[in-house]
Amino acid sequence: ISVLSVASEAYPLVKTGGLGDVVGALPAALAAHDVNVTTLLPGYPKVMAAVEGAAALHDWPDLIGAPARLLSGTLGGHKLLVLDAPGYFAREGGPYGDGAGRDWDDNWRRFAAFGRAAADIASGAVRGFRFDLLHAHDWQSGMAPAYLRFAPAAARRVRSVMTIHNIAFQGRYDPGIFASLALPDRAFAVDGVEYYGGIGFLKAGLEAADAITTVSPTYAGEILRPDFGMGLEGLIRARAGRVHGIVNGIDPAVWNPATDPALAETYDRTSLPGRAANKRALEAAFALEPDDGPLFCVVSRLTWQKGMDVLADTVDALVAGGGRLALLGSGDAWLEHAFRQAAERHPGRVGVRIGYDEALSHLMQGGADAILIPSRFEPCGLTQLYGLAYGCVPVVARTGGLADTVIHANAAALDARVATGIQFDAVTHESLAYAIALAIQLFAEPDRWASLQRAGMAADFSWDTSGRRYAQLYRELLSA
Ligand code: ADP
Ligand code: GLC
Repeated sequence: ISVLSVASEAYPLVKTGGLGDVVGALPAALAAHDVNVTTLLPGYPKVMAAVEGAAALHDWPDLIGAPARLLSGTLGGHKLLVLDAPGYFAREGGPYGDGAGRDWDDNWRRFAAFGRAAADIASGAVRGFRFDLLHAHDWQSGMAPAYLRFAPAAARRVRSVMTIHNIAFQGRYDPGIFASLALPDRAFAVDGVEYYGGIGFLKAGLEAADAITTVSPTYAGEILRPDFGMGLEGLIRARAGRVHGIVNGIDPAVWNPATDPALAETYDRTSLPGRAANKRALEAAFALEPDDGPLFCVVSRLTWQKGMDVLADTVDALVAGGGRLALLGSGDAWLEHAFRQAAERHPGRVGVRIGYDEALSHLMQGGADAILIPSRFEPCGLTQLYGLAYGCVPVVARTGGLADTVIHANAAALDARVATGIQFDAVTHESLAYAIALAIQLFAEPDRWASLQRAGMAADFSWDTSGRRYAQLYRELLSA
């Protein structure tokens, strides 16, 4: 089977969060199941650098309003296609906005063009390419299934899958853009791209795709409800028979404490004391007083989704209980400010690094004792998986993928030695403080703590099972 994976991020070329990790890992995960994946990315400056000197394979003189070309290269040894459209993608800043965090005004045009190109490539309208199936990720790729359905560039039918990594970002625009999308009038309809009177890119993809997936079974259930569906729950309920929850795996080539070059000392399940050197390195990096007490970490976007406001209110309790905190993240300005202030209030006990630092994020998993993830919603979550693999015990809200991947340390699970972390229910100051206190209490019993670490490190979060499930889904769709 040949699949065109269409996404706006892929590690290591471009990543703002878990989407990049997952799209970067999928080609290898699926190759093991006889699925041949080619990834299509927008030609941001960093992506263009990876295909420097490549010859154009195709030209679009006018792709939704600007010229574009197709280039090819490789991504971790797998096939990569790049949409080179300087008018859309040759910009400083992030993939979706400027350095100050403002979204680009023409995102609708940039990602409509991206979707149009993806549909052309998948359907065989671009010479030298044709795919059995198009797999679109998140709203930035949502228009691809819609173009395949409403304005196919070739007669053959191409199946499509739409994956929801985060339903909070939907690509919602004014109805006035419809005229520029080059779609037939009938596409502006409830079963098309129309969304509450405007245009919805994620909605368009969910409606047009042959199957919908999201990144954990629990989240697949949650998005049927208004409090998690964010306006799309009706559509998802109507298509419920075609919705699948497939949990993300982690890429062992990138996240493995036995081989990780970012660690001060590598280790595995049988050499946990090796973590001590990483703890010392982490303390130094965050100017924390070295000691053997519990060291918590956070590696996160600083946003409401991640419950970071609740954490900011709970830092004092964490410190009062004898814990220390190392936090790496960036996001909402007021949260960045709140954590900087927390570090000033607790010198030597709370260290804060505002920014994005891939290597440091590895050291944190390898050196901290526990990672805090108080998310209000979490489609899958990867940092708890990295924590499990690294013996950095996850303390998580019981939602989405966090509910599916962590085994709570209740008395029965502790006695059976199967517990891998701590879960709490409501994302409030009280329950987070309670969960942190429980972690501190368990940490004081070295045998119990080591058993949590070992059980987490023994759990299988490889792509093997999930890769097989995607491959199965593709095969089902192709034989239908
Ligand atoms: P989301 O995609 O919602 O942000 P995930 O847990 O799925 O959440 O993935 C987040 C990814 O981004 C992980 O790989 C995590 O390590 C990484 N990450 C988040 N913030 C930072 C940061 N400030 N520096 C480095 N890596 C980060
Ligand atoms: C999104 C979600 C996160 C998930 C990631 C990869 O960013 O917020 O929970 O792990 O996508 O699927």
